[in-house]
Amino acid sequence: MVKAKGKTVFLCSACGEDFPKWYGQCPACHEWGTLSEFTPPRRSGSRRHTKAQPAIGLQEVLQRTPHTRLSTGMGEVDRVLGGGILPGSMILLGGNPGVGKSTLALQMVPGVGQATLYVSAEESEDQVAMRARRLGVNTHALHLSGENSLAAIRDQISLVKPSLVIIDSIQTVFSDEIDALPGSVSQIRETGQQLLQLSKQHDIAVLVIGHVTKEGVIAGPKMLEHMVDTVLYLEGEDRYDHRILRATKNRFGPTNEVGIFRMEPEGLQEIKNPSEMFLAERVETAAGTAIFPSLEGTRPILVEVQALVSNANFGTPQRNVNGIDYRRLAMLLAVLEKRLGLPMGTRDVFVNLVGGLRINDPAVDLAVICALVSSTRNKALPTEAVLIGEVGLAGEVRSVGRLRERVQEAKALGFKQVIAPTLNINKVKPKPRGLTLTPVKTVQEAIQVLF
Ligand code: TYD
Ligand code: MG
Repeated sequence: MVKAKGKTVFLCSACGEDFPKWYGQCPACHEWGTLSEFTPPRRSGSRRHTKAQPAIGLQEVLQRTPHTRLSTGMGEVDRVLGGGILPGSMILLGGNPGVGKSTLALQMVPGVGQATLYVSAEESEDQVAMRARRLGVNTHALHLSGENSLAAIRDQISLVKPSLVIIDSIQTVFSDEIDALPGSVSQIRETGQQLLQLSKQHDIAVLVIGHVTKEGVIAGPKMLEHMVDTVLYLEGEDRYDHRILRATKNRFGPTNEVGIFRMEPEGLQEIKNPSEMFLAERVETAAGTAIFPSLEGTRPILVEVQALVSNANFGTPQRNVNGIDYRRLAMLLAVLEKRLGLPMGTRDVFVNLVGGLRINDPAVDLAVICALVSSTRNKALPTEAVLIGEVGLAGEVRSVGRLRERVQEAKALGFKQVIAPTLNINKVKPKPRGLTLTPVKTVQEAIQVLF
């Protein structure tokens, strides 16, 4: 926090902390080269100290009318938010340029249905209007403004009296009180703070869009994460049409939910059944692929894990991995070498999760190991089986969370066999019909069952 007003400090663009002197490496978050000079604005005397409001008793607060959330009209977005937008909350929507943040924000407006001020300094009112028309967003609730000074935005808010304000993007707005360019660390921090105040004072929901660069932080929305109530990231790659909306912070809802969309000429379309999409191009007879029922929030998604193991022709064998942690793969390779006697040290290994998905859940381990063995032996796994289980260093298959939902999803998509940890399977009651549950205790057992 900036304590002394008007006194120069050094701000870190990665974590937002400030220091009285400059360091090459931020003492708080240990990022290099992120500190820059910042002079906080001198507030007018009246703002410096106002008479304190008396504290309010808990019962009194509880008796105030409860806030009803604003539905965005898109089930996927509402679920990620924890049931819609909470009035008076501030939401950060981050993502790479071009991923579809503006599109998503616009598409929320008709659902919200209440006065919305869309501040876009990035595109002209005409451009936004044209896009809105293309997206079929045609509502009297939407008010467009090309302002990029915070003072002007305040004026617009008092004119329009919106329930929702969309700022597209935080990198383009600026406060006169600060002598720095829009998009700089100090501007982002100051405008972020002022928007937060506005939101709490007038009970307006504020959706702030922030661009993230591939390289990472760079004076970006990262810094706002501490400030806002909810952080959403829209992820996706140019190569794929699908987009994943993820909540990484949520004061008023879950943080592990994801929403899945496809970018189409008419905007972002919700994908109600992502498993079908991710398995659409699966080659069932190919060696080196395994299906894993992943759980993203409350929603299970079947994911195809692909592995390719080949003899390394020269030098250090290659390890290339997309979608799971590199160190996790190294551990699994060591387990394969020690517990199954497969020499991986002289092999090139590639692992990929189809569709650009990322999984942190260790329950994927067994699927990765079996895909690796399948590729090594050049023999496909049974096409109707899915694999679940965390693998320990001793080669044991350890239990995972919420097996029942994973089994349901596998069944719904026509899979016939679930290979999972013994301890988990014993607890699944009643046993689902039309599906075999195969319990395994070790990786060796799983391999025996499969090959
Ligand atoms: P946009 O929402 O402008 O991205 P951001 O605000 O995150 O920078 O979306 C940009 C891309 O999306 C652009 O390359 C075109 C594509 N797009 C579609 O495919 N369909 C659409 O309906 C829209 C509006 C955009
Ligand atoms: Mg945009």
